Amino acid sequence: MHHKVKLSENVYWIGVNDRRTHLFENQWPLPNGVAYNSYLICDKKNCLVDTVEISRMETYIEKIKEIVGEDGKIDYLIINHMEPDHTGAVKSVVSEWPDVQIVGNAKTFPMLEGFYGINKNLYAVDEGDLLDLGHHKLHFYLTPMVHWPETMMTYESTQKILFSADAFGSFGTLDGGIFDDEINLDFYNEELRRYYSNIVGKYGLQVQKAMDKLASLDIKLIASTHGPIWRSHIPKIIADYQKWSNYETEEGVVIVFGSMYGNTEKMAEVIARTLSEEGIRDIRIFDSSKTHSSYIINAIWKYRGVILGSSAYNGGIFTPMRDLIRELEHIMPKNHLLGIFGSMSWGGGGVRTLEKFAETIKWEIVAPAVEAKHAAREADIDKLVNIGREMALRLKEFRN
Ligand code: FEO
Repeated sequence: MHHKVKLSENVYWIGVNDRRTHLFENQWPLPNGVAYNSYLICDKKNCLVDTVEISRMETYIEKIKEIVGEDGKIDYLIINHMEPDHTGAVKSVVSEWPDVQIVGNAKTFPMLEGFYGINKNLYAVDEGDLLDLGHHKLHFYLTPMVHWPETMMTYESTQKILFSADAFGSFGTLDGGIFDDEINLDFYNEELRRYYSNIVGKYGLQVQKAMDKLASLDIKLIASTHGPIWRSHIPKIIADYQKWSNYETEEGVVIVFGSMYGNTEKMAEVIARTLSEEGIRDIRIFDSSKTHSSYIINAIWKYRGVILGSSAYNGGIFTPMRDLIRELEHIMPKNHLLGIFGSMSWGGGGVRTLEKFAETIKWEIVAPAVEAKHAAREADIDKLVNIGREMALRLKEFRN
């Protein structure tokens, strides 16, 4: 038996929480779990909006039946997004309700057949199309690459609910509170940005296009596929998305180092202390061998300054730092200032690779790179202090 959670008189949240999975997409840490949100609109025609991940399928089907009854019907299943964290239960829905019409767009159905072999009872919609459930009216907006090419959003115009797929979503389970005003949002703020930067961050331009498209809608609820349902803080989450998709950053510095025996780490400490002496209050140092890139990318999305340091390793860069810069080159965040440092024992490779990274990522370099041989000496320390000072100077130019 499950508690019934209503968004409005006949619209239900039927999502599930996942506190067992360690890695989202088998890649991104889930220390606080994740919620897979799905919704049920009861009307002359009953309609599901997205489903849940396959491991939670049993609970999900139970929740639906508790609302529509054992013999109740599901007429439509809208697939806003095909990623299996939301389509894992589609086969079960089709098995329970074989006549269900599956609503998607031209890019949805090849994926549906590819992932699940489903190619019947397809109901194709396109930009601006209307699906009338009786009382509730559903309008469809194609929002490609937020997060996959087939992604769309569904707007229910009588209750003014935007079913937004991954957009405006968050890591973190829904621990009792489902709506934004039932929850202390301090818990979700970091997880919202981490979700955005890790999962959707590569597609800032497409997020901007989607926001422009939705700008004229009167929205009273945003029902994402992850995290809280927004009803009292809609301007906040929209402002966050505008900021993040525009790559707007704040004053502060993320220092990430790769260090085998601590010599490069000591260099990071010198830079960090200089930044502090120069009045920079938000400084985060990460050891790339210990902290998952998920958290480092999240911090980089927040702060304008990025200082990367690496020892050499077999003529190249230290492996965890190599992995991090490859991810950054893939995501290509913008609006950062860059500093580079590192150490070498004979032929180098760490700093050299970071300088190549700088050419690719095109962030402004604030000071010459510093590469210490074996361990930093007095002359190196002066140059590290210079990186800290120049970074602080540039950051302070953005004040006001
Ligand atoms: Fe939550 Fe892109 O799936």
